[in-house]
Amino acid sequence: MSEIVKTPFELFDRQPPLPTMSSEILTGLGEEQKRIPPKYFYDAAGSKLFDAITELPEYYPTRTEVGILERRSADFRALIDAESVVEYGSGSSMKVRILLESVRPAAYVPVDISKEHLVGAARSIQVDFPDLAVYPTCDDYTKPFQLPQPVAGLSQIAFFPGSSIGNFAPSEADVFLANVARVVGPGGWFMIGADLKKDPRVLHSAYNDSSGVTAAFNKNVLRHINQALDSDFDLDAYAHEAVYNEIDGRIEMYLTATSDQVVSIAGETVRIRESERLHTENSHKYSVDEFRAKVEGGGFEIVETWTDERAYFLVLLARAR
Ligand SMILES: C[S@@+](CC[C@H](N)C(=O)[O-])C[C@H]1O[C@@H](n2cnc3c(N)ncnc32)[C@H](O)[C@@H]1O
Repeated sequence: MSEIVKTPFELFDRQPPLPTMSSEILTGLGEEQKRIPPKYFYDAAGSKLFDAITELPEYYPTRTEVGILERRSADFRALIDAESVVEYGSGSSMKVRILLESVRPAAYVPVDISKEHLVGAARSIQVDFPDLAVYPTCDDYTKPFQLPQPVAGLSQIAFFPGSSIGNFAPSEADVFLANVARVVGPGGWFMIGADLKKDPRVLHSAYNDSSGVTAAFNKNVLRHINQALDSDFDLDAYAHEAVYNEIDGRIEMYLTATSDQVVSIAGETVRIRESERLHTENSHKYSVDEFRAKVEGGGFEIVETWTDERAYFLVLLARAR
């Protein structure tokens, strides 16, 4: 059966070029504590692996956040008036369906670095919401973001679920929040999900699942780099590690070399010693008060906060000042 499409669909392709990727990877691997920016987990395979993580019994964040959103959807309808929803790190665009159904905007702008996955998810939104204009935007949200031109004059709600804010260092999160406030403009809306501090054992098992999906996701960053930059990481020579750093209140994810490695990346040689760790991700956990203060400091007034009955996860609604 053919689909009749009446409303606009346009891809805004601002995917970072390969020289940017290669220079960011080489810069990170040249530091004392070698690191790889977490955005490079996400090519098409990485996006699929993340979706598999969300189904794991140990991985409580997705189902907890979806539960909060479902229970509060009537509140969203009563509170929020916005003509356009811009979603940062939209992935499979699943959670936003609850918001689209409650707020009923005219346009949806999913923003994601993983282009193939972004376009597929945006197409399925277009099919399920035939009156919605959809403008998938492939971009790196860690850089200053410009709205696609067709929605630039509309009232906005920015949506940033999944506790992806936790991947930023606290000072980077401040810069990101200030950018969001600029994008939505004074009076613009912002809904964000944040993972809360809790028993470290719960956190540990969420990032060290028994079926090894998180380990495969972590190693996918090396496969992605090999494919994009023609490098030669040996995926079997690294072990997944995820630990909770109680002082900094964050899960730290590493790939630990099991033997000495010499890797060639974009004409450069990188040496990695046995037991040396490549830092691939931080996932900061907040208390409700810490997170409220953070969002307020970014230029917003808090409208409402919602948690689940175990207080595992927070959804916060705010308006830019
Ligand atoms: C942890 S997943 C969350 C997906 C979805 N929002 C959810 O809550 O289930 C992070 C998503 O953000 C995207 N992403 C990560 N870093 C990004 C960046 N710097 N710029 C744009 N998208 C990014 C990934 O491709 C992925 O789809």
